[in-house]
Amino acid sequence: MTDSVARKIEKLRDEIRHHERLYYVLDAPEISDAEYDALMNELKRLEAAHPELVTPDSPTQRVGGKPAEGFRKAAHARPMLSLDNAYNTEELSEWDRRVHELAGNLPVDYIAELKLDGLSVALRYEPAAGGGAHLALGLTRGDGQIGEDVTSNIRTIRSVPLSISTDRLQKARLPRGFEVRGECVMPQAAFLHTNEEREREGLPPFVNPRNSAAGTVRTLDPGIVATRGLVFFAYFLLVEGEYFAAGQTATLDALTTLGFRVNPHRARVHTVDDMLKFIEQAEENRASLGYEIDGVVLKVDAHATQQRLGYTGRAPRWAIAYKFTAQSAITRLEDILITVGRSGKLTPTALLTPVFVGGVTVSRATLHNADFIERMGLLIGDWVKVERGGDVIPKVVEVVDDDKDHPRGNRKFAFPANCPECGNAVVREEGEADWRCVNADCPAKLRETLLHFGSRGVMNIEGLGDASVQQLLDRGLVKSVADLYALTKEQLVDLERFAEKSAQTLLDEIERSKKAGLARVLMGLGIRFVGERTAELLAQEFGSIDAVMAASAEELERVEEVGPRISEAILEFFSRPANRTLVQRLKDAGVDMTAEKKQRTTQLAGLIFVLTGTLPSLTRDKAKQKIEAAGGKVSGSVSKKTNYVVAGEEAGSKLDKARELNIPVLDEAGLWALLHSLPQPG
Ligand code: IVH
Repeated sequence: MTDSVARKIEKLRDEIRHHERLYYVLDAPEISDAEYDALMNELKRLEAAHPELVTPDSPTQRVGGKPAEGFRKAAHARPMLSLDNAYNTEELSEWDRRVHELAGNLPVDYIAELKLDGLSVALRYEPAAGGGAHLALGLTRGDGQIGEDVTSNIRTIRSVPLSISTDRLQKARLPRGFEVRGECVMPQAAFLHTNEEREREGLPPFVNPRNSAAGTVRTLDPGIVATRGLVFFAYFLLVEGEYFAAGQTATLDALTTLGFRVNPHRARVHTVDDMLKFIEQAEENRASLGYEIDGVVLKVDAHATQQRLGYTGRAPRWAIAYKFTAQSAITRLEDILITVGRSGKLTPTALLTPVFVGGVTVSRATLHNADFIERMGLLIGDWVKVERGGDVIPKVVEVVDDDKDHPRGNRKFAFPANCPECGNAVVREEGEADWRCVNADCPAKLRETLLHFGSRGVMNIEGLGDASVQQLLDRGLVKSVADLYALTKEQLVDLERFAEKSAQTLLDEIERSKKAGLARVLMGLGIRFVGERTAELLAQEFGSIDAVMAASAEELERVEEVGPRISEAILEFFSRPANRTLVQRLKDAGVDMTAEKKQRTTQLAGLIFVLTGTLPSLTRDKAKQKIEAAGGKVSGSVSKKTNYVVAGEEAGSKLDKARELNIPVLDEAGLWALLHSLPQPG
């Protein structure tokens, strides 16, 4: 019986994978969304009835992985390099000339591809238990040597195959272990959607699809990643740490055979003229692709030629990125709008006569801060040049001043001396670019704070949106987030738009939020610079709000990512009596402010290290600190007791001694790998 269920499940999975590929990789679905959902629901139902048959590569397992606790780091099989840039025809010709010169008698054909504007990731596939290969690891680029393990997030991206059949591997002539590299991009539609949602939730918008993609891939909750519509385009293949032998065309073909999404806009080119034609075509298509590109990448095709050309420190000599110049248009500055954020920061936004730039209509652009307006000498009514670079947020870059067609404006903009929402005087601290409203009771701040507190990703109180917050404020029902927990049904039904049922739903949501846990509360408090990741790491380190409040700067800075700027903000926040009272009131209301503490890492316990020479990025003190934090010891001289010698540039006699005694020698990457790749206890 189970046998036939198992067969049925496998059949359904294959069918779903087939349709996912048609939809997400080939962009050519054969069934409707509803039919797809029906297949998926059937599979979910069967798996729920037979949990022993659930496998990690089942299509149902893309979502729902447990939120990651920070990210483990891991070393790249080969460094993830960058590309050199060319900005004009001369630079491109110069590169082409060098390629020919260095290639000697080897063939020079180029492949032109789009330069996708996202973040690069490396996907490691390993032999799967049941045959074929499965996705074992997904790493961000990180510093090129060490990346972050974002596997559970990558798994939610539909164009990334979780497993690859033996059949496909054979067709592509690949072994069962290999690495695929490519770019994670967020399509513009998904980006706009993400930001609409963030705006509704009172969160600051992402500035462009690239940042949004990067922020999403590093989100600690795979459930959120799954909703963000990321797409992965593959362009690189490593087998046993080496580049796939035959060259770039063969690589792209193999990736296609394996079931990856490979960008269809590519061409084989020979001369600089061909390259320029491709570039022109790409610029023309740019607005209608649906995702952002910021240039064209040209790659020498043949592997033998690539090898002959080799690498500089940071980039291959056999490839170059031709970067587009930003797109711009001229329009009129109608007015400047000032908004007040949660921190009290006043932000100026240019209100523009709508104009078409790079495929979208732009009517607002950022003006950054008061200095920016001042420096440009901006007048209301001015004609301005707006630019959209790789960014979707347009920028005002200059005032157009040729009095014939574009006369200057006539009204100087006076940056308000008072908060536009509460009327209190605004202040600007020394060395800061922003004016702030420091009135703790400013309704704008309170409104933004409440919206932030209730938003998804923070306390997640559904129903606490713009309209209901405004009503609560208008009636004076809440003066602080703590007041949310004292709301009653009688008060709510009395408000417009609230019926018995919706009032109860909101109260239930507020009640439920009490269990959100320490990290969410830390985020909700709105401490400057404390975002999702920092809050999560602080919660894991300290385990309770009391411990966080009692921590010294030094103790706070032991947390990864917390430096003096953040520790100071935290100390400042909790030094204010009003904030301490707020915490106490939340506690009294029954809001859980604890978290599971993470065991201190002890993977290097008992190991003795000797440091010698200069490491590429870690100072000696930092390296020592890292080793000791992981339980290891650092000694000054090499002896038989030494377990590892970490050697950098210009290592001296200690390195000789290590070799003599046969002690393993690590470089910085090796040290990182040791610190981060070993299984963590607890
Ligand atoms: S190949 C050895 N191809 O551009 C270098 N990169 O500026 C391998 N990128 O880090 C890179 N589109 O994230 C390559 N078609 C494409 C690309 C591409 C975007 C990114 C990649 C790289 C960055 C360098």
